[in-house]
Amino acid sequence: MTRVAVLGGGIVGLSVAWSLVGRGLEVVLVDAELPGRSSPVAAGMISAAAELEHGEPDLWELTSLSQRRWPEFAAALARCGGAPLQLRRTGTLLVAMDQDEEIRLDRRLRLLADAGVAAELLDRSELRRREPGIATTVRGAAWLPNDLCVERNRALNALRSALRKAGAELVEGVGRLRVTGERVVGIDVAAGTVFADHVVLSAGWRSGTAAAPGVLPTDLSGHDGIRPVKGELIDLEVAAPAVHAMIRTRVDRVPVYLVPHDDHHLTVGATSEQVGADTNPTVRAAHDLLVAATTVVPELRDAAIVAHRVGLRPAMTDNRPLLGSSPRPGLTVATGHYRHGFLLAPLTAEIVGDRVVHALSQGDLS
Ligand code: GLY
Repeated sequence: MTRVAVLGGGIVGLSVAWSLVGRGLEVVLVDAELPGRSSPVAAGMISAAAELEHGEPDLWELTSLSQRRWPEFAAALARCGGAPLQLRRTGTLLVAMDQDEEIRLDRRLRLLADAGVAAELLDRSELRRREPGIATTVRGAAWLPNDLCVERNRALNALRSALRKAGAELVEGVGRLRVTGERVVGIDVAAGTVFADHVVLSAGWRSGTAAAPGVLPTDLSGHDGIRPVKGELIDLEVAAPAVHAMIRTRVDRVPVYLVPHDDHHLTVGATSEQVGADTNPTVRAAHDLLVAATTVVPELRDAAIVAHRVGLRPAMTDNRPLLGSSPRPGLTVATGHYRHGFLLAPLTAEIVGDRVVHALSQGDLS
């Protein structure tokens, strides 16, 4: 049986590995619990339109397509993983808290209209009817009804469980690519080498250092290669539901999102800083995020802080994911998903799964 090794067990590596077992390949996934992983702290927003301002237009093609794949992806995963995923159509409210933000909201709506997204403008009374927890000082809001939210841990656990049930091997350890001549032939871990006919590199921001110098393309491993973008998030517990939809806004120019997971839990996110591989939670981030969150939803002052988490998003210089390209035989790359790991997981799994099968069919065997 043809064997593929996947380096990295975040949402991208797991999803790719699952698509590979579905294509009849033997899969070994190598993963280590290192600090700064982004998947276990992700808010789980599947909201291409709400992220549009952050992305370049051609990213929209990928994110909007992948969002449409999520319901089917989640249903198939629930069947194979043996437990339902918590994928909910909560919608997103883009909220303007002051006049500048109202102007910005207008610009966003035009950008969305150009992309073919119909966002519904809500007046204050309609907004307060839907979300009574939002501050009375709110200026305006737009409603994106199709946005989804997935509970990160359920999705990650379902993928691990689906992989095990399908006979994939999950190896714990820090891995590095093993190269013989020009060809990538496996993954070195402390206990030895996992040899494989093909290797997928999906190690997040660490992908650039997953091989000896000169092995990886410079856009991945060079000075301007993949970089960590630090994101801090706060998980809160509330006595009663504070909001029903995902909320996105800026308060004094601090971007903030609120993501309700159930009636009692929500995530407030996220900072975005290029400060290297720093995984320290900071007072500044907690202060900024919580001031912004409680300005939008004042009753969050009574919430309990459950966790302050830090994740390092893997970003390429153009903020687009690197899917497939590798000058090395035996290697396919799937990394650089930046803010969009969960959002892009179904499409990445499909694209990379097809590319690996194509490479193998072309005789790209070790
Ligand atoms: N996907 C949202 C974030 O990275 O903060």
